[in-house]
Amino acid sequence: MGRKSRYDDVSVESTSDGSWIVKRFIILALLSPCLAQLPNTTFANATATTASGTSALAAATAIMDVSVEDLWDLLVGPVSLAATTTTVEATPVPSSELIPPPPLYYPSFPSGYENPAMTKNSSWSFPADFWWGVASAAYQVEGAVKDEGRGPSIWDVLTHRGGAVDYTIANDTGDIGDNHYYLYKQDIARIAALGTQVYSFSISWSRIMPFGRDLINEQALAHYDDVINTCIQYNVTPAVTLYHWDLPVYLMNLYGGWLSESIVDDFVEYARVVFSRYGNQVGYWFTLNEPIVFCSEYPYPDGFFKKTSIPAHQQPYLCGQSALLAHAKAYHLGKSLNLTGPISFKTNGGYKIPLTDSSADALAVQRAWDFNEGWFANPVFINGDYPSTLKAYTSTFLRNFTSEEQSLLKGSADLFAHDAYTSQFFFAPDAGIDACITNSSHPHYPSCANTSYTGPTGWNIGYAADPGSPWLHIATDWVPAFLRYIHDTWKPSSIAITEFGFSVPFEQMKTLSADIQSDLPRRVYYRAYMEGVLTAIAEGVPVVGTLAWSIVDNLEWSEGFGVRFGLQYVNFSDPARPRRYKASFFEYASIFKEYAATGHAANGTMR
Ligand code: GAL
Repeated sequence: MGRKSRYDDVSVESTSDGSWIVKRFIILALLSPCLAQLPNTTFANATATTASGTSALAAATAIMDVSVEDLWDLLVGPVSLAATTTTVEATPVPSSELIPPPPLYYPSFPSGYENPAMTKNSSWSFPADFWWGVASAAYQVEGAVKDEGRGPSIWDVLTHRGGAVDYTIANDTGDIGDNHYYLYKQDIARIAALGTQVYSFSISWSRIMPFGRDLINEQALAHYDDVINTCIQYNVTPAVTLYHWDLPVYLMNLYGGWLSESIVDDFVEYARVVFSRYGNQVGYWFTLNEPIVFCSEYPYPDGFFKKTSIPAHQQPYLCGQSALLAHAKAYHLGKSLNLTGPISFKTNGGYKIPLTDSSADALAVQRAWDFNEGWFANPVFINGDYPSTLKAYTSTFLRNFTSEEQSLLKGSADLFAHDAYTSQFFFAPDAGIDACITNSSHPHYPSCANTSYTGPTGWNIGYAADPGSPWLHIATDWVPAFLRYIHDTWKPSSIAITEFGFSVPFEQMKTLSADIQSDLPRRVYYRAYMEGVLTAIAEGVPVVGTLAWSIVDNLEWSEGFGVRFGLQYVNFSDPARPRRYKASFFEYASIFKEYAATGHAANGTMR
């Protein structure tokens, strides 16, 4: 269910101002996406220290100095600046903003004229230690992309260096975004004001290590110190994702990013820096966000990054292999550092419903699980290895995990963290699954599972989201079955829904704040979804927490700001980026009050 990148061929044009032609020529030769090979160069920056504590200059075998600024100039070009470029202190949320909307099914009758209130379902309640929160990701919300020493990530290049290719709708970039980098204090105060218990955000790898390796940027570490401390100050437990798709572009051009197992050591070193700094202040750790999606982005179109000769069909699986090893090693590192918060990675995907009860459709569904969730969940939660169907496909080009790696992988997650937004029907291709498996040019190869949003009766699976999210419907009836499926298949000790949310159709076209804030379809989605979670809990499935996507409207990757997932509206036309609660935020928050276990753990403790 990855988003579709929209591109054809692309040519890269230089955006540098040409004032230092010679140096530029040499550096371009080193970093240019057009070159097949890069020399084995270490970049030096005399003022920084390396992860191992030695001077970068001493450690480097540099043939020339390249600064972070050089990377920006050559690979990204000029970026936009926000109106506010210093950290803003929080002010109390005005009480007028904290008035909840009228209840969903019963409009605002004058007092004394109400319909009888809908009764609670008395068989539902959240366990005492259940936690709920909201989520974001660095590149989608932070902005301030060049500030305080951040190096460029692949997303800075993708959004800026389109050339002939419009990688993001309307050429939107994350340069300013929500300016969360400077407005986080207010953002945390706002979520706390509605009782939010957990804030899940990602750390930008290229802030901490502008080149992705060696050099450590102290300003960035100090920034996230403050984000984490602000959460704690407001009794919000921080949950940190180490990697939410914003790969330092230097590593992409150096060795192809996740295509190379060289990334494993670099990622683990980055994890070491972050784990060591924030340790037990963080309540939940997620190493990787949705490797299924970011690995399926490979191959990237020509012209953005250094070319690779690795065949396109192999690339997602090479990425997957590196991602699994990086996760597992980071997990064990975290354990060796005695981190107390659960460590996991976030997998993703919707529930898969067979279109008919034929055995061919059942097989198609199984293959769809194998090539999606099973790709990452089987090695971690079952046996240290891929599903056999996937292995049969990758065996010609992917090495087997060693038995040592299998033991590292198996059991390397304390929680099944799943981003589960929606659901889809699956069925066998017309000519049958076998005909597909043996035909590499078949449109459904290699999973050989066909999909549909229309069910057997001809009706849609549910209300469709914004056309920019064609994969998303309000299809929440499946939630209990999905949670049971996870429980029965991967047998985790606990499950958390680490992202779920809904893009209201055409919300971005509305101009009145009051209209945008009354987001009925999103309210319905959250209520129905959480009722599904409560049903699963009542049936004995160990669901321990939920994180809603997203804290605020933000850059929806290649869909830019054209798709809105926020529980809070952000006015992107206003340089101050003001936020307003949408009704769905109140709806989501109210469910936890309604179904709190007696003696529900109060805010403030690490859950
Ligand atoms: C997830 C992703 C988020 C966000 C969300 C809504 O897959 O992790 O970054 O974009 O989808 O589409």
